[in-house]
Amino acid sequence: MLSEAERQAIAEERERWADPRAAGVEALKAVQEHQGWVSDEALAEAAEVLGMPVAELDGVATFYNLIFRKPVGRHVILVCDSVSCWLVGQEPLYAALQQRLGIAPGQTTEDGRFTLLPVCCLGRCERAPALLIDGEPVGDVSPERLDDLLERYP
Ligand code: FES
Repeated sequence: MLSEAERQAIAEERERWADPRAAGVEALKAVQEHQGWVSDEALAEAAEVLGMPVAELDGVATFYNLIFRKPVGRHVILVCDSVSCWLVGQEPLYAALQQRLGIAPGQTTEDGRFTLLPVCCLGRCERAPALLIDGEPVGDVSPERLDDLLERYP
């Protein structure tokens, strides 16, 4: 169920944007900021506040891959899975990440600490291979740097 603060944030986004789909992206981000992810129930309530059909808002959520429709860990690691990163070692990096965390792409560690998700180019090709951890870009990542990097996210 949405809190009053979330309903207010969504209503403000609806006021701000002429296109309800643009308001939808921001509304879903607001929900995610409060709840960590967007459940079916929260999406339906957000659609009601926006005055949008639920299916249309669900389409916005599906299109925008930074909206999480399942519970995620405390830290979300988005791994770039595109060509510039492949060329400079994304594959061994991705394999090392999965091995260190003991999970496959799309999964969350048993302790709820990390979720690992692949995404298209993060726009950080000059610092490839690149990750986005909790929304912060991390570049020039190598398997050797992983232990130090992961330690920063308890
Ligand atoms: S291809 Fe990886 S950041 Fe662009």
